[in-house]
Amino acid sequence: MARAISHPLFARIYPRINAFAEAHGSIDHRRELLAGVRGRVIEIGAGTGANFRHYPSEVEQVVAVEPEPRLRALAERAAAEVTLPVDVVDGRAEHLPAADHHFDVAIMSLVLCTIADVSAALDEVLRVVKPTGELRFYEHVRSPRLRQFRVQRTVNPLWRLAGGGCNLTRDTEQAITGAGFTVKDIRRFDFLINGRAGLASPSIIGTARPSG
Ligand SMILES: C[S@@+](CC[C@H](N)C(=O)[O-])C[C@H]1O[C@@H](n2cnc3c(N)ncnc32)[C@H](O)[C@@H]1O
Repeated sequence: MARAISHPLFARIYPRINAFAEAHGSIDHRRELLAGVRGRVIEIGAGTGANFRHYPSEVEQVVAVEPEPRLRALAERAAAEVTLPVDVVDGRAEHLPAADHHFDVAIMSLVLCTIADVSAALDEVLRVVKPTGELRFYEHVRSPRLRQFRVQRTVNPLWRLAGGGCNLTRDTEQAITGAGFTVKDIRRFDFLINGRAGLASPSIIGTARPSG
């Protein structure tokens, strides 16, 4: 059996990191990620539930999967503050607690950097979304610039330790297409804070559909 996911230190600091990032623009990325989403939604690795207040009213239900107990407690609190029905559940991306082809949309934000087995997780997304459904993603990714990528690679072991398993070096778009999705829309950008790029600046927001 896989070990329980527990990151007490990260769980304590992530709300502050997220508040800082939102104050510098990631709140707009969340809105962009969720614009036009409707129907039954599964959000994978929901963290503190930072997305919940941005779901459009056309969403019928959100199942929010979060394995880390402290973050899950914060997500439960965030779920209680929105009118939309959000069920926060324990579980991990590699074994989603959901029936086959039940959801219209799967949401992954800032989570494919952290999930241990990305390939298994994306297989699970394919299993639980309808063949006509979609995956919406918002992720920081490996830099397309070689020099910056080399720095990411050097720093990554320490970053992973401090960041609850987060990686700077993942080619997430490649992972998504390799898993059997077709990317329909993608925006690649550097998320700058006060005009400055950091190691987690290279980012993508987009939509992918099962290739069928
Ligand atoms: C950087 S946080 C992002 C949280 C949230 N999605 C957001 O947009 O703020 C990464 C999240 O991934 C979760 N996570 C880590 N491994 C996971 C796994 N195998 N399955 C599902 N979630 C996982 C962590 O517990 C944490 O909540």
